[in-house]
This record gives sequence, C-alpha cells and structure tokens, in this order.
Amino acid sequence: MRFVYELLVIGAWTLGFFSGDSMANLEIDHVHHAYGPKKVLNDVNLRVEAGQLVALVGPSGCGKSTLLHAILGTHPPTGGVVRVAGEPMLRPSRDVGIVYQHYSLYDFLTARKNVAFGLMLNETSAPYRFFNYPGWLRQRAEHLERADELLDKVGLTAARDLYPSQMSGGMRQRVAIAQALIMKPRVLLLDEPFGALDEATREELQLMLLQLYEENLAAIAANEPPPYTIIIVTHELNEALYVSDRVVGLSQYHTDGANGATIVYDRPAPRFKPGEPKDLAKFVQQKNEMVEAVFSESFAKDHRRYVTFWEEYEKKAATAVGA
Ligand SMILES: Nc1ncnc2c1ncn2[C@@H]1O[C@H](COP(=O)(O)OP(=O)(O)OP(=O)(O)O)[C@@H](O)[C@H]1O
Ligand SMILES: [Mg+2]
Repeated sequence: MRFVYELLVIGAWTLGFFSGDSMANLEIDHVHHAYGPKKVLNDVNLRVEAGQLVALVGPSGCGKSTLLHAILGTHPPTGGVVRVAGEPMLRPSRDVGIVYQHYSLYDFLTARKNVAFGLMLNETSAPYRFFNYPGWLRQRAEHLERADELLDKVGLTAARDLYPSQMSGGMRQRVAIAQALIMKPRVLLLDEPFGALDEATREELQLMLLQLYEENLAAIAANEPPPYTIIIVTHELNEALYVSDRVVGLSQYHTDGANGATIVYDRPAPRFKPGEPKDLAKFVQQKNEMVEAVFSESFAKDHRRYVTFWEEYEKKAATAVGA
C-alpha cells in the first residue's frame, strides 16, 4: 500500500501535476545574499513541489534563516530570485507562513482566537467591522469554526479556550503552527520550531508532522492537490531524516565557500508512517553521509555529488513505469 502511495507521489511530481498551474510551489533560482561585505548565500538553487516536506540542515551560521527570510519575502535576496507559484517573493504575503523556535502568540487571546486572528485581519477591515457588524459577527463565527478545525488537527481540541500563559511550550508551538496553517500558505517555513522543547514533547510534534504528511498522501491518492508544503530547519539530523521526505544540506564547506554557502546535499529521506517505530538503523548510513557532506570542513568538495534528489526520483519513476 505504501509502495502504491509512493508511486503516486513520484508520478505526480514527475509530471508536475500538483504544482498549481504546473509550476513548482517554490523555486529558488541562483540566489545570493550578502549583509554588506559579508557573503552568506552563494548561488542557491532549489525546486520544491507541492506536498513535499523538506528538512533543511547545515552548520550553525551558514545562512539557513537567511534563506527562509528570502523565501518569506521579508529580506529578498541581493541576487537571484525566489518564486512562489511562479510569482517573485518581493514582500511577505499570505502564500508563505513561518513559525520560529520561540512562539509568537498574543498573550491576551485564547488558543482559538489566536488561530483565527490572522484570518480576521486578512479578510475584514476596521470600517467593515464597524459598519457591517452583523456580517462581521457571522464571519467571525466562521473564522472561529475554522480555527477549531485547525486546533483539532494539531491535537489541541481540549485546549482551545486556554491563554498562552496557561499552556506548555509544546502546546504553544502547536497553536503557532495552526495559526500559520489557517492562512493556507503554499509554503510553510519552520525555523527550528522544536528547538526549545523537551525530548518527549519534541517527539509528539514530530508525529504531528508525519500526520500532516499522511494527509498529503491521502490527497494525492484521491487525485487532489496535497495541502501542505513544508520546509523545516533543524539541528537534529535524526529529526531531519525522520520527519521529512527530502533532506537538503546548506553549507559553506565547498570549493567556492568563501563566497557563501550553497546546497551541497539534496536526497530523499526514508519515510515513516505515524506510529511506526523510529528505527534509527534506517538513518545511520545517510546520517554519516550528511555529516561528511554538509558538516565536515575537510570533505572533498565536489558539491554536486549529493545533490541528486530529482535524479533519484526520476530514476525511481522510470523503474516504476517500466515495472
Ligand atoms: N541582519 C544581519 N546583519 C549582518 N549579518 C547577519 C544578519 N543576519 C545574519 N547575519 C550573519 O549571516 C550569517 C548567516 O546567519 P543565519 O542566521 O542565516 O544562519 P543560520 O544558518 O540560520 O544559523 P543558526 O543555525 O545559528 O540559526 C551569520 O554569520 C550571521 O552572523
Ligand atoms: Mg537560524
């Protein structure tokens, strides 16, 4: 069954079927970034299709957050272009959402009102709320209903009326993720979202990501566009390999590293179903490969050697068609 799903996913991506108007959800095209004289990103290229869950890893300070901010549109790159659904990202938009390590909730709003808040700002203006009060009340009820659906998805139904000060760190991060998802972003960015959480809570949130990915697979099987495209930055290589279907390594350790970091690793990750045992043996070889290719200063720097994600998928798709 799992194999059938995988084939569907491969087929969908290979044909570009789910990428909206047959465009990649995200295209990073020859992106460079410098802060004054300091060169941080050097010719970064990446194509992410709808439904992919990409883990982004790299040495501390290599430019992962810088790349996320370029995708978000708050800090467009100093060279090259980032496109989301074909549109250059020159300013923040509803198409891209972000969740950081430290939650950014409104302390004076309950969980459900925090989640609904973005929709309220986006879909109604202050004059509208004042002059069309009944219409606004109706809309607010819809927003809260939608917030409840999202809270249900992130496992927080029972906590919907709690304020942030009454929640644990893990609960707050779930609310922050629901808050981002309610805007239906084409791409959701997670910048070390579980970094401040204890191990058990972290595992629960990893499971939540696997569940979102299952929704993608179910959508693809039903011939519908997968709802979530996610890029997660993490320092934990086990986490990167466990939650994602693709691991990307950004690093300054390559032949042109003096001019900034580039992508030196891009390969499929092993897939896990929610509840399936986290078999670390499945990771060991790939983890060692990543440590060498991304984190080792002395590794031979043919930086294209492990940038093989699309090649590997196309090969798999060709084998599947020929089988
Ligand atoms: N606003 C800024 N002005 C100047 N330099 C900056 C700015 N923001 C980041 N940098 C520098 O750019 C480099 C990349 O920073 P960035 O935060 O993107 O790295 P990172 O990979 O996210 O690191 P970490 O893993 O520690 O979060 C670092 O050397 C950092 O000091
Ligand atoms: Mg960072």
